Amino acid sequence: MSASSPAPVLADSALNQWLASMGLAVEYVRAEGNTLYYRDENGREVPVLDLACGFGSLLFGHNNDEIVEHAKSVLDARVPFHAQLSVLPHVNAVASEINRIIRRETGTDQYYSAIFANTGAEANEICMKHAELERRGRVSELRAEIDEHVAAVRAAAGGGRLSVAEGPHVPTGAHQDVASLLTAVEQENAERLANARPVFLALENAFHGKLVGSIQLTQNAQWRTPFTALAATVRFVPADQPDDLAKIIEEERRTLLDVVVDGDVVRVVARDLPTIAGFFVEPVRGGAGMKPVTPEFAREIQNACAAIGCPVIVDEVQSGFGRTGTFLGSSHMGLRGDYYTFAKIIAGGVTKNSVALVRQDRFRPEFEVIHSSTFAKDGFSGAIALKVLEMLEADGGRAYRMVRERGERLAGALNAVRADFPDVIKEVWGIGLMLSVEVADQSDAASERIREAAQSGTFGYLLSAFLLREHHIRALPAGPGTRFLRVSPSIYITDDEIARTEAALRSLCSALRDQDDQRLLPS
Ligand code: F0G
Repeated sequence: MSASSPAPVLADSALNQWLASMGLAVEYVRAEGNTLYYRDENGREVPVLDLACGFGSLLFGHNNDEIVEHAKSVLDARVPFHAQLSVLPHVNAVASEINRIIRRETGTDQYYSAIFANTGAEANEICMKHAELERRGRVSELRAEIDEHVAAVRAAAGGGRLSVAEGPHVPTGAHQDVASLLTAVEQENAERLANARPVFLALENAFHGKLVGSIQLTQNAQWRTPFTALAATVRFVPADQPDDLAKIIEEERRTLLDVVVDGDVVRVVARDLPTIAGFFVEPVRGGAGMKPVTPEFAREIQNACAAIGCPVIVDEVQSGFGRTGTFLGSSHMGLRGDYYTFAKIIAGGVTKNSVALVRQDRFRPEFEVIHSSTFAKDGFSGAIALKVLEMLEADGGRAYRMVRERGERLAGALNAVRADFPDVIKEVWGIGLMLSVEVADQSDAASERIREAAQSGTFGYLLSAFLLREHHIRALPAGPGTRFLRVSPSIYITDDEIARTEAALRSLCSALRDQDDQRLLPS
């Protein structure tokens, strides 16, 4: 390479080019509260109101003073960062405090055991693994029961007293005598077991992560389908459609054959083989533009999972830790998890952390060594998690009340714009400070350039660029067709900042109503 050739870009090369093409290639140099700063061409800091707030992780804002001071004191005290395979009291302290809050909020008298990890996706994969261990346990129990029945019938059939009863489950050609029936049943079961694969259920347009397992739970075809061969099958369930849920469960139903003695005949009966390992539910679906599950559908999910014995796995990665004004997003619809996952806010905006909880009556203690990571359970993020929990719970839950109050005010402002621009804004979705604005589909727009952007799936990013360029506001798209702008600021968002957000949205709506592509999509 000659001395004058530019240094190759080795990270984010394609991503940065794409950001530049969208008008979003900004380098932020400082962050505080709800504000990110970049430098203009004269080196002056330009403040940007951040409504994306770390994809929801910054409930207490960027570099929150209290958290930063605590982080410094932890580092100054030389608290062990890594001391794997030693006694780690902070792990139990965090788990106990989360349990205490969940018990208060849901009224459950159950405890949940915790497995710590690093990211939301990892916490969800912990649940996939644990749910599969549980499912295999249920399969083994069923097999043991059937083996016992077969052995008992074999022993009882020795005297020639028993004959085979006709019935729909008798394997072909196995009617003649009990001995050949039992062999045929065993063969058939072995085949069925060899072909049985675990299946997970997940809601349509939910987001559960991008690792090998969790990406299969995240519906986005572009991210998921190249890797379907690598992981368990997932069936996507339309939210709020109980009939579809029942149909999918029926389609995934598999059975094993069992034998029962009834007088002097042996009957063959079908026993349900556990195939569905778990149902992942994101109570407020980020990938659907912050749409909450209804209480009615939450009940359907609960009943369906109870009937087939699989766990309800509530992904609280984004909705949990106060984001919706309660500790659990699922509290709003009365959904109860057998498992829960948390990430994002638990890390306080200064570290990385996540945790999966499994209700103790389902928990398999061996899992504590089956899953581990060098970085999980580190002393630093444990101390930060305790601080975040303390801040959420302080003053009788002032933080939750702030989320509700600020969220209502913000949603009120967004809805005021919607009332004036019903042709542009279809709906304001979400709960607390987990909100989104649904912009009407522009794929039939009068402006050719707006139409093209809508059809190519870049539309939402161009709206983000407009808000950044003209109003110094950062809001990123989420949801189908990128038509949803997510709005998830910190609890410290001020009345002025809400007013700025409203004004910016009004200006965006005017430009869209006027189909002003010069303003919306400057070349
Ligand atoms: N579950 C939910 C509900 C999420 O929102 C996310 C991430 C994950 C799991 C995965 O967590 O990124 O730590 O591995 N959501 C980001 C977002 C990407 O855009 O809100 P991760």
